[in-house]
Amino acid sequence: MMGIKVGIIGAGSISEMHFESYKNNEEVSIYSVCDLNEERAKAKAEKYGAEKYFTNYHELLAVPEIDAVSICTWNNTHAEIAIAALNAGKHVLVEKPLCKTVEEAHAIEKAVQESDGKTLQVGFVRRFGTNTQVLKSFIDSGDLGEIYYAKASCIRALGNPGGWFADKERSGGGPLIDLGVHVIDMCWYLMGKPKVKSVSGNTYNKLGNRSHIENKSFYKAADYDPSQNSVEDMANAIIRFENGASLMVDVSFTLHAKEESIAVNVFGDKGGAEIEPKLEIITEKNNTILNSTPQIDALSFDFSKGFQNEINHFVSCVQGETETISPVQDGVEIMKILAGVYESSEKGEEIRFD
Ligand SMILES: NC(=O)c1ccc[n+]([C@@H]2O[C@H](COP(=O)([O-])OP(=O)(O)OC[C@H]3O[C@@H](n4cnc5c(N)ncnc54)[C@H](O)[C@@H]3O)[C@@H](O)[C@H]2O)c1
Repeated sequence: MMGIKVGIIGAGSISEMHFESYKNNEEVSIYSVCDLNEERAKAKAEKYGAEKYFTNYHELLAVPEIDAVSICTWNNTHAEIAIAALNAGKHVLVEKPLCKTVEEAHAIEKAVQESDGKTLQVGFVRRFGTNTQVLKSFIDSGDLGEIYYAKASCIRALGNPGGWFADKERSGGGPLIDLGVHVIDMCWYLMGKPKVKSVSGNTYNKLGNRSHIENKSFYKAADYDPSQNSVEDMANAIIRFENGASLMVDVSFTLHAKEESIAVNVFGDKGGAEIEPKLEIITEKNNTILNSTPQIDALSFDFSKGFQNEINHFVSCVQGETETISPVQDGVEIMKILAGVYESSEKGEEIRFD
């Protein structure tokens, strides 16, 4: 198949990365845009030369020319829109997190199975960063041996974006589902996607959104309202896998921390690696420990390149050239982990998966 037509549903902040990456892909034409906010849909349609724009996604899905859609809406709409798109015969790239609950994740998985070979790719964009891809090639060739431990941390001292992000009904949760999803997935993917055995987690609602803080700016969603916040401000967890490996994670929107930080590491029996903030590979040779820094353009996540790689890969899948490296089953497994952390925290005990 030559030349595919795409529709983009949700024309907010992150959609810009989708629009730009589709624009740069010669196989693609951007055919339609949809957003509840008509002005936003119209502005993007004009900017990217789309033929049509809508405020109701069902109308976009009814356009027969469209082969594939990107879903860039609030998390509470991902399941509903992804299922409707698959039923309408479209290929789907859905932003992370796949959805809000494990039940929804299974419903999407079922729709993919019944879709007659349509691709659903989950937007785990960090998998497509150069640093992750380079490290994956070292892991695949055995340089780190068996990975038995990983550690992921993504801390904001002050950074609850407010708006829908802070509304549990629309987001499904706070920093765990928004930031944790990325760093947990990076580790899990590099660990070889082991099956999760149990999760023990804690979430805290101690500091609120701290909208009283002065003289320090932070990113705010378009519809920021300081009086609204129903999500956790930090979460931590230990995740056990069936192969004996474990993953420790902590994430926050706000915490009495000295500064913002991201640190993601994996450890194997032959070597280890730091992926963020800067790729570095730690090995042993001639009785000496080596810290090796690859000579690559970006040692930390390169945002535009990551999205371009993600979209190019999705387009190849839609054209039947390859199968997605980020399929619905991975979205389901990550959803189990995220929901497990919330459930464990609520019950005050470990959650086991059989
Ligand atoms: N991969 C990443 O690094 C990354 C970064 C940011 C956000 N995201 C994800 O992208 C999604 C959107 O986030 P954002 O930051 O762009 O939010 P945003 O608020 O800037 O944009 C979301 C848009 O979706 C529209 N919308 C919501 N429900 C809709 C519906 N039913 N039909 C049509 N339009 C609808 C809203 O009107 C809004 O314009 C979220 O799932 C978020 O988790 C991913």
